[in-house]
Amino acid sequence: MNKITVVGAGNVGATAAQRVAEKELAREVVLVDIVEGVPQGKGLDQWESAPIEGFDSRVIGSNGYAEAAGSELFIVTAGIARKPGMSREDLLRTNVDIVKSVASEIKKCSPKAFVIVVSNPLDTMCYVMREVLGAPRERVIGMAGVLDTARYRSFLAMALDVSVEDIQAMVLGGHGDTMVPLVSYTTVAGIPITQLMSAEEIDKHVVRARNGGAEIVAFLKTGSAYYAPSSGAVQMAEAIVKDKKRILPCSAWLQGEYGLKDVYLGVPCKIGAGGLEKIIEIEMNPTEKAALMKSADAVRETIAQVQL
Ligand SMILES: NC(=O)c1ccc[n+]([C@@H]2O[C@H](COP(=O)([O-])OP(=O)(O)OC[C@H]3O[C@@H](n4cnc5c(N)ncnc54)[C@H](O)[C@@H]3O)[C@@H](O)[C@H]2O)c1
Repeated sequence: MNKITVVGAGNVGATAAQRVAEKELAREVVLVDIVEGVPQGKGLDQWESAPIEGFDSRVIGSNGYAEAAGSELFIVTAGIARKPGMSREDLLRTNVDIVKSVASEIKKCSPKAFVIVVSNPLDTMCYVMREVLGAPRERVIGMAGVLDTARYRSFLAMALDVSVEDIQAMVLGGHGDTMVPLVSYTTVAGIPITQLMSAEEIDKHVVRARNGGAEIVAFLKTGSAYYAPSSGAVQMAEAIVKDKKRILPCSAWLQGEYGLKDVYLGVPCKIGAGGLEKIIEIEMNPTEKAALMKSADAVRETIAQVQL
């Protein structure tokens, strides 16, 4: 790609920009933030690492969107993050306004761009972005499932003392307490996890994955996770840029899939040069299906509070 813009030069955004540049996913990486000097300083600092890291993606920072014009892809991380004791939903009012304003800027400067949303509460922010942009669902997807799945995989790899690469898993549903780690689709090099671990132990890791964000917030106290979240967003960006056709759990606008309509929810998606190329409908056991429906209800409740 020629240009990828990351909006929000905070923890997730700045780390994502650096990962995009180091992977050379675009010729130019633009970092946009409202705080004067921060995107410029971080952008320049990252570009100055290029001769050492050996990448040629030019990173620049800006407080406006002139430099972002013509971007093919945006990663939107603008907004406030959680502090201890806060739920993702507590961020709603502030982040709706922020994401609305970012969406109208994207609409003006790069109306055909793909947008990967990261700001929380994730599924609802995807809704706000798509409504304001007026874009087809192929172009607005949310990052949460990739992160939730990575957390789940990392815990299982630790417990089994095996490579993270051999753990295949999928966490679906909304990005919140109702997320749905699919035990029936969790395998280790093709071996069902249930052959390697007791149900009680699997459940322990499921619960830890579900609370994975809060675990980091409790450690950091002044902010939330950003290394793994930025990796998640950049994995999705890479799938689009390189037309990899990866099957990743992403938040997508459902139009009848899984019996659900007009809601953003984490489901298995094929991600390639067309953005969201396909939503894959998988079979689930009754418990998992019920958990997915409950998660959709929770997202719907949050979306209902949004006034655009
Ligand atoms: N989806 C996920 O899995 C996931 C994971 C981690 C964090 N998040 C969310 O991502 C968001 C960012 O997290 P963070 O840790 O980087 O927070 P942060 O506070 O470090 O950074 C947010 C940045 O957004 C900027 N900003 C605010 N309003 C803006 C606007 N209108 N335009 C441009 N920039 C603006 C702020 O100045 C700040 O630099 C939060 O909402 C957080 O909850 C989501």
